[in-house]
Amino acid sequence: MLHIKKAELQNHPTPFYAYDLKLLRETLQAAAHAAGKYGYHIHYALKANSNEPILAEMQQIGFGADCVSGNEVKRALETGFAPEKVVFAGVGKSDRELRFALENDIFCFNVESLHELEVLNELAGESGKTARIALRINPNVNAQTHHYITTGLEENKFGINFWELEQVLELLPQFAHLQLIGLHFHIGSQITEMSVFRALCLRVNEIQQWFLNRNIKVEHLNVGGGLGVDYHEPETNAIPDFETYFGIFNEFLQPEPGQQVHFELGRALVAQSGTLISKVLYIKKGIKTNFIILDAGMTELIRPALYQSYHKIENQTSKAPEMRYDVVGPICESSDCFGKAVMLPETNRGDLLAIRTAGAYGEVMSSGYNLRDKAEAIYFEG
Ligand code: LLP
Repeated sequence: MLHIKKAELQNHPTPFYAYDLKLLRETLQAAAHAAGKYGYHIHYALKANSNEPILAEMQQIGFGADCVSGNEVKRALETGFAPEKVVFAGVGKSDRELRFALENDIFCFNVESLHELEVLNELAGESGKTARIALRINPNVNAQTHHYITTGLEENKFGINFWELEQVLELLPQFAHLQLIGLHFHIGSQITEMSVFRALCLRVNEIQQWFLNRNIKVEHLNVGGGLGVDYHEPETNAIPDFETYFGIFNEFLQPEPGQQVHFELGRALVAQSGTLISKVLYIKKGIKTNFIILDAGMTELIRPALYQSYHKIENQTSKAPEMRYDVVGPICESSDCFGKAVMLPETNRGDLLAIRTAGAYGEVMSSGYNLRDKAEAIYFEG
């Protein structure tokens, strides 16, 4: 059950996102401690949640910022991340976004195609800057996760394929305004099978060797993010197993002496700290089960509709014996459903339901479909 004071629950118009800052801090400390053992650097992936109070915690603990749009770069800088801790990634950066990042002298651009190298070189030349770049390489490693969030296979649009690297290296000396400083990899998200990270390390070692054979040694390896969280047990597994995760990289990744290792974690840092709180509008009898109709829908949290993902649902109000319900939202789409055949205490109009583990890719993916209001965010100390 979510540990939040009744008053905090009741004083806000629903639906709203509630973030537990105490749990967030504990999670960040655990990650920083486990990464710190090996001198690893973490850049927080803003795409998971870019709310300012959350970014402030990331910045205070010393993480950098991994951004995928000009606005994320702007938000990171405004929140106080030093430019030399900001990375700009993404397969389709616009000229305007690139120029903005160049003007602000960010640490590194993770470049995803030959064409982007050409454009960035040109824009950097125009601004009189040298852009530090990492090549995002598609390592062709299967992340064994939902196909919508798998990114490291050759069939995906992300990164430069291995067979294109020779050409990249041939052209690189012509790009006078680019400085190659890193190699970047990211294979997908919500990865719970730890052997996947071992496979990633082995592949990165091979690719690094390919570069070393050509006398290219970069300053850093960026192995992306992707560590999954336990959506079924938000209480007992509130903090992901960062020790095992970073331990795998320590065991299997072979950085060169003096080479930094960077990570871009999003979900694992914020998912468990966020909960979507929604009020029950109606109970409706169905043929097989009863429906709980909530005032939150896929406009507030699209993950179940988009990836059929599971989020634990709890009734914060009722303690009656359990019954089976389909929990749905108010949006005119049949996919607007948070859970089918969910066992919940007998539920009434006005009860508050908590949809757990919604801190990552929840609020940031919300939409104004049906002209819905944007849900408020509140912060509490759990
Ligand atoms: N680095 C890159 C290049 C990425 O594309 C991503 C996530 C990350 C880092 C952070 O990955 P994380 O540590 O959060 O797994 N909306 C989906 C997830 C999309 C992930 C996109 N890329 C969801 O709700 O599950």
